[in-house]
Parts: sequence; C-alpha cells; structure tokens
Amino acid sequence: MPHQAAINEIPLVTQICYLIASALFILSLKWLSAPATSRRGVLVGEIGMGVAIIGTLLMPEIKTFQWIIVTLLAGTAVGIPMAMLMPMTAVPQRTALSHSFGGLAVGCVGAAEYYLMIRHGEGITTFKMAVLSLEVLLGFLTFTGSLMAFGKLQEILPSRPLVYKGQNFINLLLLVIAIAVGVWLTVEPTKQILFPVFIVMSLAFGVLLIIPIGGADMPTVISLLNSYAGMSASAMGFVLDNKLLIIAGALDGSSGFILSIIMCKAMNRSFTNVLFGAFGQATQAATGSTEKKSYRSALPEEAAQILSSASSVVIIPGYGMAVAQAQHRVRELFDQLTKRGIDVKFGIHPVAGRMPGHMNVLLAEADIPYDKLAEMEDVNPEMAHTDVALIIGANDVTNPAARHDKSSPIYGMPIIDCDKARTVMVIKRSMSSGFAGIDNELYYMDKTLMLFGDAKGFVGEMVKSLSSGD
Ligand code: TAP
Repeated sequence: MPHQAAINEIPLVTQICYLIASALFILSLKWLSAPATSRRGVLVGEIGMGVAIIGTLLMPEIKTFQWIIVTLLAGTAVGIPMAMLMPMTAVPQRTALSHSFGGLAVGCVGAAEYYLMIRHGEGITTFKMAVLSLEVLLGFLTFTGSLMAFGKLQEILPSRPLVYKGQNFINLLLLVIAIAVGVWLTVEPTKQILFPVFIVMSLAFGVLLIIPIGGADMPTVISLLNSYAGMSASAMGFVLDNKLLIIAGALDGSSGFILSIIMCKAMNRSFTNVLFGAFGQATQAATGSTEKKSYRSALPEEAAQILSSASSVVIIPGYGMAVAQAQHRVRELFDQLTKRGIDVKFGIHPVAGRMPGHMNVLLAEADIPYDKLAEMEDVNPEMAHTDVALIIGANDVTNPAARHDKSSPIYGMPIIDCDKARTVMVIKRSMSSGFAGIDNELYYMDKTLMLFGDAKGFVGEMVKSLSSGD
C-alpha cells in the first residue's frame, strides 16, 4: 500500500479521473431510483468504477502490477460466475456476501495503514487515528455481520432469531467497550496491544448484532450493513486522504441508510429496533387458526373468461412470481388482455418479493411498459373501481389483517387494497402462508377465487385459453 507522504501528491490525471468517477456515481444513484432509467444507472456506475480504478492505477507509487493483476483475475473469476449463476431469488444473500468482502477489505486496509504509521512513526494525528478506529470498527463488524446475514439467508445457519436474556444490554456494553478502546487508541496510538483487541471486539460485535435477527428481516439488515460498509469506506478515505473514497463511501452509506428507512416503513418495523438488532421475532408468528374456513377455486379457463370480460385489471405480483420465474408468461397475459382493450396495470408493493425493487426488475426483464407499473399509493385509490385484482404469488402484501387486526404481526404494514376490487383472483400453489407465516383472510372472501398452481404454469394456461379464443 502506498504510504501517506506519497498519497498526498495525487497526480492531476488521477484527480480528474476521481472527479469524473464521483459525478458518474451521483448520476448512477439518480438513475437507479426509477425503473425506466435503472439500466443506465447500473452502466454509468460501472463506468464510474472503471474510471476510478484506472485513475488509481495511474498513481506513481504503484511500481509493479503483478499482484494487482493476480487479484484482478481472482476477483473476476469469482465475480462473473457469482453474477451469472446466482438465481434472482438469491440476490439478497449474494449482496450480503459482497458487503462482507467489502467490509473485510476496508478493515484490512485500516489495519495495514495503522501498522505502517506505527512503523514509520509519521502521519499519526488524533484525527487520523479517530477515523482509522471508526474505519476498522465498521469494516470488521460489517464483515462478520454480513457473513452471518449470508449464512441465515442461505440457511447454512439457523434463520430463526437467537435470543437470550439481557442480549441488548450485552451488545450495547460490547459496543461501548469497543468505542472506549477506539478512543484509547486515538489518544495513545502506540499502545499497540490495543489494536488486535479492538479488531476482535469489532468482529464479535458484528456477530452478536445479527444473531437476534430472524432470516426474515435480513434484507433490511443487509441494507443497513450496506450503509455501514459505505461509512467505513468513507472513513478509509479520510485515513488515506482519498477524496473519491470519501465521496463514494458517503453516497453508499447514506443511500443504504435511506433504503433501510424506506424498507422499515414499508414493513412497519421500528427503525430503532433495527439499529439495536432485537427484532425479527414478530415474523415467527402463529400460522393462524386451524379452524376450517371455506374458499372458492377456479380453473385457468374460468379465470381467463372472467379476465376477458373485465374492463380493468390490476395485477399484483409477489414473491411467488419470482420463484416461478413467471414474468414472461405474465407479459403474454398482459398482451392478450390489452389486445382486447382491457385496461391493465401492475400494483407494485414496495416490499413485494424479497428485495427492494424485486418486482420492478422482473417485470422490466419481461419488457412490461414502465408506465403500467403503479406504486401502491397510486394504485390503491383505483382499487374500488377495478373489475379484477389478479394476485400472482403475492400474499402478505395483500392481507387486509394489516389494516385492522392489532394482534397480527403485519398490523400497520401498508397493503395493496385488493379486497376493494370487484373480483379477486389469487394464483398460488396452496393455502399456505407467505413470509410472515400468517393466514390471509382475503382468500375466504365471497368475491375471491383461488387459482391453485405454479404461477408460470397457471398464467401459461390462461394465456393459452385466451389465445385459443382469438
Ligand atoms: P409472501 O408473503 O412471501 O407470499 C408469497 C406467496 O407466493 C406464498 O404464499 C406462496 O404460496 C406463493 N408462491 C411461492 N412459490 C410459488 C409459485 N411457484 N407459484 C405460485 N405461487 C407461489 O410474498 P409477498 O406478498 O411478495 O410479500 C413479501 C413479504 O416478504 C412481506 O412479508 C415482506 O415484508 C417480506 N420481505 C420483503 C422484503 C423486500 S425488500 N421485498 C424484504 C424482507 C422481507 P404457496 O406456497 O401456496 O404457493
């Protein structure tokens, strides 16, 4: 790693690259926030990162490239198959793994910089030690925290919350002690024995922070860990006096933080609970009463008939559509219905699926026009005037219990008001519960028809039936 004295002399070409990269990162975030521009956002972010890497490689203190090439090839060999082979439904754990590597890298850079400063006996200022401590704390806790999140989502570790008495107190105590050690190191950087202790405490805190959280709530936690990783990278920027890292880390940290808040709101979670890690138990809720309730079901041909005689249809996709990879069949259904002059929209709940924007990504992949995707707030006022609400593999995000049943674990979560439509049709394989583990009273309403089957197969059958009637 280049040492501090050299880092301060950043060549003009590198500075220009950093400026361009920073602007591209900001544009990327802006474009990523809307489905219509999100692909451009990804591309621009990638170009920005490429420019940033080139700028860094042009720094004169990099004398030899052999290790850089080796690590570049190793990273590419891992990254490409990870991106190509990982199914869309596994993106949350893939993201957790990437954050974990990011956190480890930041923590290791911090440790290396600390020992370099100690060995050279130069560049150690109180400010630098303070940000270095923050970098190491956040970097190593993100490393173990994200690994735990990955393990829970991949079900390598038990996904249920592991709780014990006084857990929050112990976590808080460990954090306070770790901060105290960090402050001590800041004041007395040459007290080298403290540094490994500090690293171990940070690693342990990452584990303890995540174990009380159920696998169910991991995507929110991953977004928060993303924010921690960004903040640690920003702190690293101050340590290395690298403005690009400060900017990129701050963008990452703040966007991850905002996303966590949006997800908490959409799932009706308290943000304080997320911060203190003691949540997730609510999703281990009872699976509902065992009393037998009656419901009505229909075959694909009957469902197709109802759809073809409607004048407005709102399709509400959910996790089941992602599992079944039914988006292309859904596109065919959309084409069949719009061809008949039926007004078809998609009602998108902010936490439908298992990651933010999950439904948008899938529907965009199937080339569904963006202007047909309506946010929950926009589609809800229209539900009472809608002929058919067609739910495809969604469950919790349509459950009316969230509006009125105070005992329900999803009480307070905003939902898509499907129950207000004239007819409700639900494609799923059985009567089993969704993510929150609770029964959905919508299924037992007189106006509801259950359409049992795999989403891809069932929608395919409906399309066949509609096209044979052309
Ligand atoms: P869920 O409530 O999880 O329901 C999905 C339904 O899809 C299940 O009831 C399942 O019923 C059905 N299904 C599964 N595979 C299927 C297939 N092959 N074909 C047809 N149906 C299938 O999904 P949702 O309504 O999208 O709600 C999302 C939930 O995840 C919310 O509780 C939310 O809080 C939570 N969550 C979301 C996020 C983000 S950011 N999106 C993050 C964390 C948690 P069957 O088994 O009967 O088929």
